[in-house]
Amino acid sequence: MKFSHEWIEKNPWLMIVLVVLVVSVGGLVEIVPLFFQKSTTEAVAGLTPYSPLRLAGRDIYVREGCYNCHSQMIRPFRAETERYGHYSVAGEFVYDRPFQWGSKRTGPDLARVGGRYSDEWHRTHLNNPRDVVPESNMPGYPWLEKTKLDPEAIVPRLRALQRLGDPYTDKDIAEAPQTLVGKTEQDALIAYLQGLGIQIKAKR
Ligand code: HEC
Repeated sequence: MKFSHEWIEKNPWLMIVLVVLVVSVGGLVEIVPLFFQKSTTEAVAGLTPYSPLRLAGRDIYVREGCYNCHSQMIRPFRAETERYGHYSVAGEFVYDRPFQWGSKRTGPDLARVGGRYSDEWHRTHLNNPRDVVPESNMPGYPWLEKTKLDPEAIVPRLRALQRLGDPYTDKDIAEAPQTLVGKTEQDALIAYLQGLGIQIKAKR
């Protein structure tokens, strides 16, 4: 039989092998450079690894499922940049493991919420969102204010990130627990929120 397109299409297994080959080459050509490009692997100016308090807050953000209603990814469209500020760039997420980009927006995007409100606003809002935004349907998280952090629990998390290449020194890790003594989960979550997206200035 002649080696023709028809012949390939009539041989499903051969077809599958060829499709996989083509898709993998196409994928690799697009994906592999991202691991080496400066613009995707280097932190934007001013971005530092998470402080112990912010890291603890980030874990609470994930635990409470805030990502179910909030994305952290401003797309490069006029409607988004007018509302939220400069679009998100890859270098802002190099210390995010895993990133919290998301796509579900029941609430607003939070990628640049840092510094937009006072800590006091966040306290009130997290305890009962309707005290500051009457029409809000965000649930309250009043227990965060009453729950103290476990300072020692940060050590294995920092170790894990250090092993993955984040620039924490052994001294940083040894000193981390004492910076969390007496802090509540709400303190940590607010510290996390207040640092989001502040390296690239928000427009609003
Ligand atoms: C059921 C959906 C839902 C969940 C879950 C949720 N939110 Fe919200 N969030 C909203 C909505 C809707 C708004 C807009 C109204 C308001 O400000 O309360 C909002 C607003 C916010 C704002 C103000 C943003 C701005 O730019 O004005 C912050 C900060 C925030 N949420 C943080 C959180 C955090 C932190 C969590 C997890 C502890 C969380 N949200 C969980 C729905 C949600």
